[in-house]
Amino acid sequence: MSATDRLDSEQVFHDRQALRRADTFRRDPERLRVDDEAWLDHETWISPAFTALGDVAGLCVLDYGCGHGMASVVLAQRGAHVTAFDLSPGYLAEARARAEANDVRIAFLCANAEHLPFADSSFDRIWGNAVLHHLDLGRAARELRRVLRPGGRAVFCEPWGGNPLLNWARARLPYPGKSRTPDERPLRPRDLRPLREVFPGLTVRGFQLLSMVRRVLRPGRLTAALEKIDARLLTCFPSLQRFCRYVVLTLPR
Ligand SMILES: C[S@@+](CC[C@H](N)C(=O)[O-])C[C@H]1O[C@@H](n2cnc3c(N)ncnc32)[C@H](O)[C@@H]1O
Repeated sequence: MSATDRLDSEQVFHDRQALRRADTFRRDPERLRVDDEAWLDHETWISPAFTALGDVAGLCVLDYGCGHGMASVVLAQRGAHVTAFDLSPGYLAEARARAEANDVRIAFLCANAEHLPFADSSFDRIWGNAVLHHLDLGRAARELRRVLRPGGRAVFCEPWGGNPLLNWARARLPYPGKSRTPDERPLRPRDLRPLREVFPGLTVRGFQLLSMVRRVLRPGRLTAALEKIDARLLTCFPSLQRFCRYVVLTLPR
């Protein structure tokens, strides 16, 4: 698939998704309100990833591939000067409505992550959730380094493709919320190379080893117990991180 076809297909897919969601928010605009704590807890990697971003008050922060814009709102509520972009005008419309419903000011724009319309060294921090695995990582990495200030940092949460059993389940099993663009792929170890070339200080932390059953079970006692076991296992045997469901990447400039 050519780069243009890939971008077109990404945009069409996400615009369709946003259109399906738009009806819910038209009927019930209250649902645009963001519950900060609930959002931070909606996946186990979000809160630690936010911690890796550090205190954002007063900093210029980019929400990279912002989608529905929930992270943008939480960042703005923490005092960051937030700029947020996405390829999908449909998702940007939802993100704008969400910012308005939550009384925060955010600069939104439609842009391609592989060719950013920002001056060099524009941002102190960059946040991204589930977006790098849609991109040409070589191009994305160069643009990330260009727009980050020296001493700045980017943090990304991404699906990880290092577990053959999980890859099999992703490809074969039906489960709720399983809709993907044709070109997205969970990141594999070799995908980190172009990022590491540009960000030699890149660190990778895995999340959800046994507790990846959260993907199909409601959070409850079992998932909480598995999360505790995961925390112990991943601390004692860090090499098990390669079998996790998600990773948090920290890219210091
Ligand atoms: C799985 S969604 C994640 C959205 C959001 N970050 C979140 O936390 O839910 C991936 C997002 O990446 C966006 N995207 C995909 N390719 C892109 C590109 N080349 N430039 C900018 N955004 C892109 C999509 O439009 C979509 O909103």
